[in-house]
Amino acid sequence: MTQIIKYLVLLTVLASVMLSCRDKDVTPGLEEYLNLPEEAFDYQAIAVPGYLDSDLILLQDKTPENNPVTNWGATLGRVLFYDKLLSANQQISCASCHQQQFGFSDTARFSMGHEGGKTGRHSMGLTNARYRVSNLYFWDGRADGLEDQVLRPILDSIEMGMNLSLLEQRVRSQTYYRILFNRAFGDSQVTSKRIALALAQFVRSMNSFESRYDQGRRSHNRKEDFSNFSEQENLGKRLFFDVAKGNCGGCHYSDAFVMDVPRNNGLDAWEFAGDNDIGYQAVTNNALDQGKFIAPSLRNIGIRPPYMHDGRFQTLEQVVRHYSNGIQWSSTLDAHLFGPGNQQAVQFNLSTTEINAIVAFMETLTDTELINDPRFSNPFK
Ligand code: HEC
Ligand code: HEC
Repeated sequence: MTQIIKYLVLLTVLASVMLSCRDKDVTPGLEEYLNLPEEAFDYQAIAVPGYLDSDLILLQDKTPENNPVTNWGATLGRVLFYDKLLSANQQISCASCHQQQFGFSDTARFSMGHEGGKTGRHSMGLTNARYRVSNLYFWDGRADGLEDQVLRPILDSIEMGMNLSLLEQRVRSQTYYRILFNRAFGDSQVTSKRIALALAQFVRSMNSFESRYDQGRRSHNRKEDFSNFSEQENLGKRLFFDVAKGNCGGCHYSDAFVMDVPRNNGLDAWEFAGDNDIGYQAVTNNALDQGKFIAPSLRNIGIRPPYMHDGRFQTLEQVVRHYSNGIQWSSTLDAHLFGPGNQQAVQFNLSTTEINAIVAFMETLTDTELINDPRFSNPFK
């Protein structure tokens, strides 16, 4: 009997020593570098509010079954997103080019990579990147889903300049990742696949539901005037969904304001310009896809100039003027923008009042809560 008691006491002492060792080992790794809440922030409960076209938006939710958002998974993704260790010379993180204050985009026309080189296209805003009809990512749709997308910037020679084994080695070398992988995946094994899963979870959490547009939508259907909007904003909203006034809602649709497939919105007359960015054609090798691009969600568009894949427009007014009278005809121009006879580009001929109203409407899609939300801020001290 006493033997057993002794044995039990010994076991208890051993267990508590082991636990306290683990605590010592564990806590400093996190607290030394990171400001994280004791309990993970809530990411997994993010739900599309019912006042929106929630059926449609949920159909556009491309979360795969094997990677649902979890609180610790997205937390790990957040740390990876802000960690400069993920670039070859440790100077650049995802957040260098996707800044929370600018709707997770960059105000530079082309962003600066790890060695000072410039990206070939403008950085994309990530607000609502979770939703997409086709699951194609990047301006030219070359990535198939976010899990496929998120490692590519790390491997890109201009952006972050890494390879997968160096990436895994860097991440493995940090105590805080051992702890975070454990919490996210149940053990501390670091693989590039898990890095991709966690980053995709974090990007998928960047949902916007607190804009002035949302406040109006809570008590109105989309077609009626919103009582919290000015007259100009309500006019802009009507025009945005009017096929004869730019047909914006025909391509940037649902309350998530996302596109389905790459389309040509008439920025260039393709047949006459040899050195233009061919867009989706480079992915499909099909000349019928020349000059087609897919735009990110228009939520937070007002705070993330410049605009288009090459950042050619500085202001939203310039964007709307393009749609009003600047559309270039080419054989791949999208049918939403055909003029009479279907052999020329449409001229919407919007008045200045109409142009300003559409701009004012797009500015109601700014979500200041999202851009100040601590769940998406830099966790490094
Ligand atoms: C040096 C700047 C830079 C860095 C660093 C960077 N990105 Fe990007 N990101 C871009 C640019 C530019 C594009 C558009 C590129 C294109 O379409 O060819 C883009 C596109 C994306 C997209 C596609 C969005 C959509 O709607 O299709 C996602 C998602 C994304 N980046 C996430 C990340 C993540 C995650 C990281 C870190 C692992 C990261 N980016 C690092 C510049 C950057
Ligand atoms: C034919 C479909 C189509 C229609 C109609 C359309 N767009 Fe677009 N829109 C696009 C495409 C495609 C892009 C991306 C083009 C690119 O960068 O090459 C885009 C890009 C944009 C951008 C820039 C997005 C960014 O992240 O930089 C804004 C803003 C925009 N559109 C607003 C509008 C407004 C306002 C209207 C109506 C006046 C409109 N669009 C009508 C297809 C369309």
